[in-house]
Amino acid sequence: MRKNIVAGNWKMNMEYEQGVSLFSEIVNMVKDEVIGKQEVVVCSPFIHLAAISKLSAGVSNVHIGAQNINDHESGAYTGEISAAQVKSTGAAYVILGHSERRAYYGETDELLATKVDVALKNGLKPIFCIGETKDERESGSYFDVIKTQLSKGLFHLDAAAFGNIVLAYEPVWAIGTGLTASPEQAQEVHAFIRQTLADQYGAEVADNTSILYGGSANPSNAQSLFSQPDIDGGLIGGASLKSRDFLQIINVFN
Ligand code: G3H
Repeated sequence: MRKNIVAGNWKMNMEYEQGVSLFSEIVNMVKDEVIGKQEVVVCSPFIHLAAISKLSAGVSNVHIGAQNINDHESGAYTGEISAAQVKSTGAAYVILGHSERRAYYGETDELLATKVDVALKNGLKPIFCIGETKDERESGSYFDVIKTQLSKGLFHLDAAAFGNIVLAYEPVWAIGTGLTASPEQAQEVHAFIRQTLADQYGAEVADNTSILYGGSANPSNAQSLFSQPDIDGGLIGGASLKSRDFLQIINVFN
């Protein structure tokens, strides 16, 4: 059966020492308080990966991830970071398709499909983000938008490869805005995503895929969101920067 996952996305926050210190707090709290039904993932900036990987060694339900990789394997790409380099730090995951990268760095569905392949080839599990803008929600085209993001970014994978994908539904209008999708709005889309996976890969793959919700999730709304049948956890931005808030969200599954 699919896993419940609470993943933090620190985005471009936390200087080196701050990040190491925040991660230490998270690991210590999780070690003491979390029973272990859920997986915790922290997606930090690249600069923290090697250090926090050492801190999570031996803590079986805490993993680390990056927030991006380059679409090439290696070579003359000044300033870029490859999947193999990320993997060599001990990271298990990489966020791909985040709306901030789609919007600010022009990442297309085609580029993301390549990044997915490079991640998988190097043993990183993509946390693949999909979601509609405010205009797309208001015009009612959001199901089409999500289906297109899934099919162009991921449906070239066979069922075995798809088994390494975690999905995150992140309505763009809810990210960092304090406007959370209601549990009913989120569940409607999560159920649609799972049905779309079932149509493409069959019911077993669909049932085994973890689909996270992201967008202004916090300790006050996490319980009502995560109790929906097709919401398997969260991709948490702002609230993952405070250890107590993040732990409260993690503890929804205890
Ligand atoms: O990746 C995380 C999402 O963009 C959500 O961010 O929780 O700050 O709204 P947020």
